[in-house]
Amino acid sequence: MGLHMCRKEVYNVLLKQIELSLDKKLDRWTNVCTVLSILRYNLDLFWAGIYYRKGKKLFLGLFQGLPACTEIEIGKGVCGTAAFKAETVIVPNVNDFPGYIACHGETKSEIVVPGFFDGQLRFVLDIDSIELDYFSNDDAYYLEKVNVYISSLLYE
Ligand code: SME
Repeated sequence: MGLHMCRKEVYNVLLKQIELSLDKKLDRWTNVCTVLSILRYNLDLFWAGIYYRKGKKLFLGLFQGLPACTEIEIGKGVCGTAAFKAETVIVPNVNDFPGYIACHGETKSEIVVPGFFDGQLRFVLDIDSIELDYFSNDDAYYLEKVNVYISSLLYE
């Protein structure tokens, strides 16, 4: 999917797919893995995963893709910056981001979207592409919606 669809259409389809596949009777991890898988394969991503906050650090949670860095300090790297600012960070070229944490040499661009529950930052959704400048404010808009699903799956 994606070749003849614009990114917004892809998100509308994948959000429907997410709604249809979530099943509260299933284990929450199953549902979150399904969401990450839907993102990875519909958006043709290199890596999609979650780092959850515990104290002053982020720890690797569920992901789709290669093994990755397991601990990131809040304030460090793209993930730690998004967590510190509590806002989405888009990095068109990872080589230009000061303090970038390179888990995989393949990644060229990245977007990290914070996830909240009860007004608290609980996790970040980290998404990587092998293409430069792969993410825009449209991705931020839709991935913030996806994070609301993930947050309800994990914490409600
Ligand atoms: N590049 C991230 C680290 C996580 S990996 O991309 C999976 C960062 O700078 O925070």
